[in-house]
Amino acid sequence: MSLKEAVDEICRYYVGNREVVEKIMAALIAGGHVLIEDVPGVGKTLLAKLFSRVLGLSFKRIQFTPDLLPSDIVGTKVWRREKEAFETVKGPIFTNILLADEINRAPPKTQAALLEAMQELQVTIEGETYVLDKPFLVLATQNPIELEGTYPLPEAQLDRFMLRISLGYPDDRRFLRERMSWKTDDPASLARVVLSREDVLAAMAKVEDVEVVDEVLDYIAEFAAIRSDRRVLAGPSPRALASLLKIARAYALIQGRTYVIPDDVKALAADVLGHRIYLKPEHKLEGVDPRAIVREYLAKIPAPKWRK
Ligand SMILES: Nc1ncnc2c1ncn2[C@@H]1O[C@H](COP(=O)(O)OP(=O)(O)O)[C@@H](O)[C@H]1O
Ligand SMILES: [Mg+2]
Repeated sequence: MSLKEAVDEICRYYVGNREVVEKIMAALIAGGHVLIEDVPGVGKTLLAKLFSRVLGLSFKRIQFTPDLLPSDIVGTKVWRREKEAFETVKGPIFTNILLADEINRAPPKTQAALLEAMQELQVTIEGETYVLDKPFLVLATQNPIELEGTYPLPEAQLDRFMLRISLGYPDDRRFLRERMSWKTDDPASLARVVLSREDVLAAMAKVEDVEVVDEVLDYIAEFAAIRSDRRVLAGPSPRALASLLKIARAYALIQGRTYVIPDDVKALAADVLGHRIYLKPEHKLEGVDPRAIVREYLAKIPAPKWRK
């Protein structure tokens, strides 16, 4: 059973763009996290459940609200009278796939608890440190329309996400036909289990072995040119470029290759680099989309002709 077959199975029940599923899979295999910006009802919850089912991984969901506390995420210690001792109750962050729904509805302190855990892969519960499960994929969602009473993630925090994507709408005719044939509102329950947690860990271990020739490395490095774009205050950091390199290797694995080709980089650049570009205030106000800037550079920078 392969990563490709897992993507196939997810795409049987998630009606939408296959490329989106491949990108989320690549983020998971590369040990990254994904910020999904979409309106309700486009299949975010379904997609998270499908990943967990098809890959044999645990799944939890946290609805972020204004009164959510850091301890609601990481856990707490409670006094057990019968045992006359404190017992650690681990929070929902102890899971393989965490759907952090409407992350911008919780105050910054609570957001920070999640973002820190994403970075460090461990949490502290009242002074004691606990290592998180592996793999650990956060799918955080933000509703791009309903912004009232929300706390937008600070730009510096966006860097914690390997990818920022939106799912978009499915082909509605196909969706309704499929919905008729599934006879359920929860098609994730119909999906086959294709891989196990061990398979996922094995795939993760292979990412660093994926070959990247100098021509492709240089191609990735060219995106540093965005730093001197007239609209940009700060362009992609070295960490952002390293992120692009890593997810391109994972993406190549999903395509069944052991080497990265320029097309892997092209498929991912806007979703990896876009949210790591700081625009000058006047261009931000104008509503310039940093992803569009990355696309301009994709069109401008000649891709190496290299083929295996
Ligand atoms: N792209 C899609 N493919 C298959 N089913 C979908 C899709 N989008 C929505 N649905 C169905 O619509 C309902 C709501 O989807 P859900 O995943 O809860 O949306 P969201 O989490 O984005 O608000 C579910 O019954 C789900 O099965
Ligand atoms: Mg949902």
